[in-house]
Amino acid sequence: MTKPIRLAVLLSGGGTTLENIFEHIETRDLPAEVALVVSSKPDAFGLERARRRGIDSAVVESAKFRKRNDVGCLIPDWESMSHELTNVILAAKPDLVCLAGFMCMYILPPELTGKVMNIHPALIPAFCGKGMYGHHVHEAVAAAGVKITGCTVHFVTNEYDAGPIILQKCCPVLFNDTPDEIAARVFEQECEAYPEAIRLFAEDRLEICGNRVRVTTLEKK
Ligand code: GAR
Repeated sequence: MTKPIRLAVLLSGGGTTLENIFEHIETRDLPAEVALVVSSKPDAFGLERARRRGIDSAVVESAKFRKRNDVGCLIPDWESMSHELTNVILAAKPDLVCLAGFMCMYILPPELTGKVMNIHPALIPAFCGKGMYGHHVHEAVAAAGVKITGCTVHFVTNEYDAGPIILQKCCPVLFNDTPDEIAARVFEQECEAYPEAIRLFAEDRLEICGNRVRVTTLEKK
């Protein structure tokens, strides 16, 4: 039996991805426990989902981390927000940090390299990068006329949506699909993909080789 790993889950909104992780843990096919939920917004419903299960939560509010750029405009200060996030996360001693609809840039400290995952609702390197999150992704997919989309679980690096890919799952895009219909179909894939990637991590089966990930078999370990 694989020993359960401790997860810190970072989110900004509804927490549907967090809920899916809870459900997989509860049906015992995911050897993990959620040690901490961190939200970048104080009113995120994901915090309520954590409270309902008695899971510790914290808020590191993105709106409080702003700085002025060269022309005097207020822009996000990801460096200082990331510093605060790191303090909160490391205090919970997680084995793995999962971004779950977390709409901020987290600049990782060296000790979390290879220990932070994200799920993106498209097949990276398509439909990703700055401004491509949540519903924007599915609107762009619908407008582009692609026939296939899906989701990607990847390790997080300090480059947006560009870290080593762990696994991808795809689904069709039908001619009359609305962005909402695409989102629902992709989310079904996400519900399988994220627990699968976390399970592979818990089983110590993910080897990062440069910008690629080798998934090793259980027998080889
Ligand atoms: C998921 O579809 C996830 O892929 C997406 O947010 C949704 C979960 O949000 N993440 C991104 O777009 C990250 N680039 P929720 O948990 O607030 O419902």
